[in-house]
Amino acid sequence: MSAITITDNVYWVGVKDPGLAVFDIIMETKYGTTYNAYLIKGENKTVLIDTVKSGFTGEYLANIESITPLDTIDTLIVNHTEPDHSGAMAALLDKVPNLEIICAAPALPFVKNILNRDIHITPVKDNHTLELGGKTLIFKSTPYMHWPDTMMEFLQEDKILFSCDGFAAHVSFESLWADECQQDFDWELWYYYDAIMRPFGMYIRRNITKLENLDIQIIAQSHGPLIRKNAAEYIQKYHEWAADKSEGNNQVTIFYVSSYGNTKKIADAIAEKLRKLRYAVVMIDSADFEELQAREEMEKSKAILFGTPTFAGDAVRPTWDVINLLSTIPSAGKKAAVFGSYGWGGEGTKLVADRLSGLRLKVFDDIYKARLVPSDEELAAIDEFCQNLAEFIG
Ligand code: FEO
Repeated sequence: MSAITITDNVYWVGVKDPGLAVFDIIMETKYGTTYNAYLIKGENKTVLIDTVKSGFTGEYLANIESITPLDTIDTLIVNHTEPDHSGAMAALLDKVPNLEIICAAPALPFVKNILNRDIHITPVKDNHTLELGGKTLIFKSTPYMHWPDTMMEFLQEDKILFSCDGFAAHVSFESLWADECQQDFDWELWYYYDAIMRPFGMYIRRNITKLENLDIQIIAQSHGPLIRKNAAEYIQKYHEWAADKSEGNNQVTIFYVSSYGNTKKIADAIAEKLRKLRYAVVMIDSADFEELQAREEMEKSKAILFGTPTFAGDAVRPTWDVINLLSTIPSAGKKAAVFGSYGWGGEGTKLVADRLSGLRLKVFDDIYKARLVPSDEELAAIDEFCQNLAEFIG
């Protein structure tokens, strides 16, 4: 596929990868993807926005050369250094060694580590402008959409937002314009958000506000079809998806798993007490849960509790399976606590607490444990555990 004109002197010079089956290990991409890159020719300056994944370098360079010789390019804007966008950077620099590189400050070490050579690189801050001659780029720092290095830019005269991974979708259809696609890809748009953006909801809420005063008519993202109709609706979707689901919520979710009913007995007693303390308690069996629902409940929760027995010196696999979901939602800073029944060592609960701390949850110091069948005294101690826990949760 060759270059495509977006507006006057603004071109798509990316590539299509319709055969891609899995992206970033975690995402199934049954419609493939595109690696979008852009070329803008101003009266005084010609800039490229991003490169493409390695393996597509020849096609990318040919697309650029169908518009302008490589040595006429003054600047490469690096919106994000993940290899799906930086894979052709070294080959481009081989061809144009004096190319100026512009990126957000957090991208600077990443670019240097990718190129491993002397380069002419300039970091830009929020609202920095670049005059190309008749065209003006305004930069917006948008960390964690998708990496800390990520930025976007708005081409003022053409009203185009180059949004990098923001508002992207992994699909590769015949047309490059969303409104010309025969096939609806709303689900892929959401799936992209869910898999790539969702853990960073707090940052996304902050970043999206930076776009509010821009008259965005075209969204030119880094993957999937470009949006030129109802751009505001796509931004609104991100507003909704990134909303803080725990705000105003008094929910505590208890994940538990139990082999002989003892950890379940503790979970029930904790749930009963927390309900008396006016928390809305949701209980989920870690050995039998629906993943999306579990993630929704985690995200809504003010605190998440994990009840696990110990087998062979470790927490059991269903507990780890649940914990593995925490990095797929905005979980850093969430309150957490751990409990469980045990027979001899009881190491599982401590291992879980340590892992939760490692994931940057705020973990209640006191781990509640009862040996084998909880006695009346051990169950009575749950009252005090829950009182203290409630003070911790707030
Ligand atoms: Fe499309 Fe985060 O790379």
